[in-house]
Amino acid sequence: MKYLHSSLLLILLYLPSSALTPFPYLYEMHHKFSPPHLPLPTKPMNMSTWMSHLPFHTPLNTLSIPGTHDTMAYRANRLPKFTTTQAGTLYQQLHAGVRFIDIRARHYRNTFEMHHGVVYLGTNFTFVVRTLHAFLTGPGSSEVVLMRLKDEQHAQGNTRTFVQTLEWYIDVHGDTMEMLTDLLWFPGDTSRRLPLLGESRGRVVVLRDYDAEGATYELGLPYTDEKRIKIQDHYQLYTYLDVIKKKWDLIINFWREWVSFFNSILDPPVPTTNPQDLPLLVNYLSGASLFCVPRNVATNEAWGINNRVQFFLRTAWETAWNAAFPAWREEFVELRGETLGVVVWDFINTRAARLVVSFNFRGVEGWDWSEVGFWTAGERWEFKEWN
Ligand SMILES: *[C@@H]1O[C@H](CO)[C@@H](O)[C@H](O)[C@H]1NC(C)=O
Ligand SMILES: *[C@@H]1O[C@H](CO)[C@@H](O)[C@H](O)[C@H]1NC(C)=O
Repeated sequence: MKYLHSSLLLILLYLPSSALTPFPYLYEMHHKFSPPHLPLPTKPMNMSTWMSHLPFHTPLNTLSIPGTHDTMAYRANRLPKFTTTQAGTLYQQLHAGVRFIDIRARHYRNTFEMHHGVVYLGTNFTFVVRTLHAFLTGPGSSEVVLMRLKDEQHAQGNTRTFVQTLEWYIDVHGDTMEMLTDLLWFPGDTSRRLPLLGESRGRVVVLRDYDAEGATYELGLPYTDEKRIKIQDHYQLYTYLDVIKKKWDLIINFWREWVSFFNSILDPPVPTTNPQDLPLLVNYLSGASLFCVPRNVATNEAWGINNRVQFFLRTAWETAWNAAFPAWREEFVELRGETLGVVVWDFINTRAARLVVSFNFRGVEGWDWSEVGFWTAGERWEFKEWN
């Protein structure tokens, strides 16, 4: 840990005093002070393995990570429109670079069925485990997946608790036992820190969003530990007319607030906090209201949340100020080079994921804008990409 402290301090010393942020080029930090890792790849970077280019000592909470809200509510499962939140399957999402998934299990007859609220999604936990295993022991063996596991909807027909059923999947059930043994990350101490990237490659870090009382062992980390995880997840958004505006403000304010927080902690002369102790930021882009389903909020042609966010991130990413949008100048300045944390999308597509991932590689030699996956001017959200 001493090692991280001193490397951060060194970075701060190298910064010009006018630097807009004291934590600017995350990748540089890793690059200079960490053990060797894979060189940058041929272009474009393969999103199945983007974490393979980051070194062992990367704290997961300092990364910019694409995530999906209600991961299993995708169209292939033939869902009603009001409940669909994704276009791609879990496997497609993982290959697109998604490393935070939102798995909602209804405890039903001593098993976990995938649900979005009252709606059964036509699949179960075994399928999720199988997909993660195929990816993380195969093409994605350099990668780490954060999995929010949520106890969703009222339980029914059970003779045991949610956590006992989870332990049954891990210790007893023949379909999942061995796969979960390969996959799950267990904390080695009681610090409740997210692991370093190198400590958890090929694994799933469970973020427990269920009552873990009576568990026989500690698994992953609690999703609701506010010291470790800061979450913006307001999704019930009033009326149709202002839903997008309201959600947009929530998203931007969350980033602004936490970026200032990071800055204040890491203020020179001596940073008092180990980067691993900073919270994981989880910013949900998803929203809905009575007459506005998730798909409208996310992909509303002209100015839905996804288009706004990609444009905003693009502006933040570029070094040149885009004079066309002066109202965003301030956000742009504050976000430059910062970690975004987890960005949780509805209807993610490959370029949205690539855009977020690219924040981990800013300032790296050989990495250019064509890698970022910007939308071209006037282009609309490609909602049908995975049909
Ligand atoms: C999960 O779903 C599969 C396919 O429908 C089924 O064969 C399996 O029994 C289910 N597993 C559990 C534990 O419910
Ligand atoms: C990306 O890498 C994976 C794993 O090595 C591979 O299966 C896949 O074909 C690659 N994709 C592209 C577009 O090269």
